[in-house]
Amino acid sequence: MKHEKIVILGTGGTIAGTAASASDPMGYVAAQVGIAQLVAAIPALAEGSCELVTEQVAQIDSKDMSFAVWAQLAGRVNHFLVQPDVQGIVITHGTDTLEETAYFLQALLNPAKPVVLTCAMRPATAPAPDGPQNMLDAVTVARHAGAQGVVAVCAGAIHSALDVQKVHTHRLDAFSSGDAGPLGYVGAGRLRMMRNWPAVAAHHAQSAIKNIADLKGGDSWPRVDIVMSYAGASAAMVNALVTDGVEGLVVAATGNGTLHHALEAALLQAQAAGVKVVRATRCLQGRVVPKPGDTLPDANGLSPVKARVALMLRLLG
Ligand code: SIN
Repeated sequence: MKHEKIVILGTGGTIAGTAASASDPMGYVAAQVGIAQLVAAIPALAEGSCELVTEQVAQIDSKDMSFAVWAQLAGRVNHFLVQPDVQGIVITHGTDTLEETAYFLQALLNPAKPVVLTCAMRPATAPAPDGPQNMLDAVTVARHAGAQGVVAVCAGAIHSALDVQKVHTHRLDAFSSGDAGPLGYVGAGRLRMMRNWPAVAAHHAQSAIKNIADLKGGDSWPRVDIVMSYAGASAAMVNALVTDGVEGLVVAATGNGTLHHALEAALLQAQAAGVKVVRATRCLQGRVVPKPGDTLPDANGLSPVKARVALMLRLLG
């Protein structure tokens, strides 16, 4: 009799993808195989002492991730987190927006149990798919005593939701935690931790439920967009977005948060008009180090896409 449960939630992605021809590595369609079928195809998963519960939350290519799916996913994760016999949660997800979902769930739910996102760079029908090993590793992490918070597991590395970024278009080891480095590594059923698990306050079911309720249907989420600073940037994008009713803007700035003067003037004008503006960096590594007198707040180390999620949640709150 197995007393502890690991819940595996499917959302789609390449891990659930199928290809017509095994010889065409890019010619596949993501999000085709159901989560129950994916799990059943990995017999080693059933060998552990935990009961595995599967649920299909969505079946999408993660480039099409929507607020409605996020709200649904957050609700299901919270539903299972509060059950005492659930030890941890694994979420299968496409690689393309995995880091946004990971940050969203961490910021919203602050889970004291492990919530492990995993994925694949090759479809399920590939001659040597990477999904099954990633899934085994993700379950190993979800079962690990003391594991907590939202993490991503891919190619043997465990990344914190705060740091993880997709950095490669097709390599199996497509994710990096930048300067911070991975939280640890997983292989052969064991973990080797390099840093502590993300610090989490106790998971407060009531505040999580309120946060999820605040997400509403999805259509009414605050409009936050991302603009970029580059050679020859102008005010045009910012002005068009402000005219269109944007509520928040994240700017992917150059270097240590610097901005083309024309773009900066437009952003300051937008801020003065009530739009919330946040400065992240377009550099893959490092963070914007704030200086006295900064007029546009920095993203507190978040990448532009995560800073956008943080700003949306702030505006919702
Ligand atoms: C997706 O993000 O759903 C497709 C790409 C991938 O999973 O690698």
